[in-house]
Amino acid sequence: MANKLHSGIHHATLRSLQECGCEITPHNLMYPLFLINQDDAVEPVGSMPGIMRMGLNKLRAHLTPLVAKGLGSVLLFGIVDSSMKDDVATHADSEKNPVMRAVPQLRQWFPDLLIACDVCLCPYKKDGHCGIFGEGGIDNKRSIARLAEVAVNYGRVGAQIVAPSDMMDNRIGAIKQALVAANLENRVSLLSYAAKFASNFYGPFRDAAQSKPAFGDRRCYQLPSGSKGLAMRAVQRDVQEGADMLMVKPGMPYLDILRATKDTYPHYPLFVYQVSGEYAMLYHAAQNGAFELKSVLMETMKGFRRAGADCIITYFTPLLLEILEDLK
Ligand code: PBG
Ligand code: ZN
Repeated sequence: MANKLHSGIHHATLRSLQECGCEITPHNLMYPLFLINQDDAVEPVGSMPGIMRMGLNKLRAHLTPLVAKGLGSVLLFGIVDSSMKDDVATHADSEKNPVMRAVPQLRQWFPDLLIACDVCLCPYKKDGHCGIFGEGGIDNKRSIARLAEVAVNYGRVGAQIVAPSDMMDNRIGAIKQALVAANLENRVSLLSYAAKFASNFYGPFRDAAQSKPAFGDRRCYQLPSGSKGLAMRAVQRDVQEGADMLMVKPGMPYLDILRATKDTYPHYPLFVYQVSGEYAMLYHAAQNGAFELKSVLMETMKGFRRAGADCIITYFTPLLLEILEDLK
């Protein structure tokens, strides 16, 4: 009689037993934040309704109620004025960088909050690309040396996770070595954007972070969306070079990659990034009456967990914390 299924799902507790391993709790969520240098400013992001770019003085009030609801971790992105951008991303880790300024404050205000910093050069370069160009294309050596320098400097001011999103070859090895050399190896965790695809779903983010490439696109360093073998090689390479944790990005169109990554590396915490375009898509669909946001959102979370994600990076984190609170 094993073909009778309804007998296993006629009560809420029975239903939740069918979802073991897919529970959503605050520690399964990471909240991305866009930081700007105007300390008292809050700027709405046009392409992502409900999301704000924020100055340091607004950050504390924004996070306090979320931390009270159990927020476990944040992922910081810095945005600087275009006059501060150059060819080598000087202000990725200068004292004028909003992330460099925010990290020590956040550590002090919220001692239990886990602070992750996105590491990339594109928001701080005139050309908006993630690596540094030399003759005939990306100069790999200079790019990964600079990325490692930035990662170490985030670690020095107190970042507990550095997360390189640039996709330059061998940056994980370069960053790990630099962290060890700086004696930060036991204090800073390396989260690799391991399988990061060249995606149209990043559009709204590039508006939010003002990091659009000035020419060309990112297809020479991010993964082709149809590739699976190359994605698995990228993950394997980053594991071999010393990544502590792995990420697949974007989320919904790449659930197979998420599952394959978890199956291949079950002992590594796995992150998935529900990116800006996924946020906008869900937001606008709900806004236009296609469905009810909260229930669809929870369904996407379950999907990520079922496919193998331990932690979901999502702009919906505040709403999700509210949903989880209501479920209590
Ligand atoms: C930049 C970066 C991007 C995202 C995170 N870091 C955009 C890109 O690679 O063009 C995307 C995040 C999102 O869309 O929410 N290195
Ligand atoms: Zn970048």
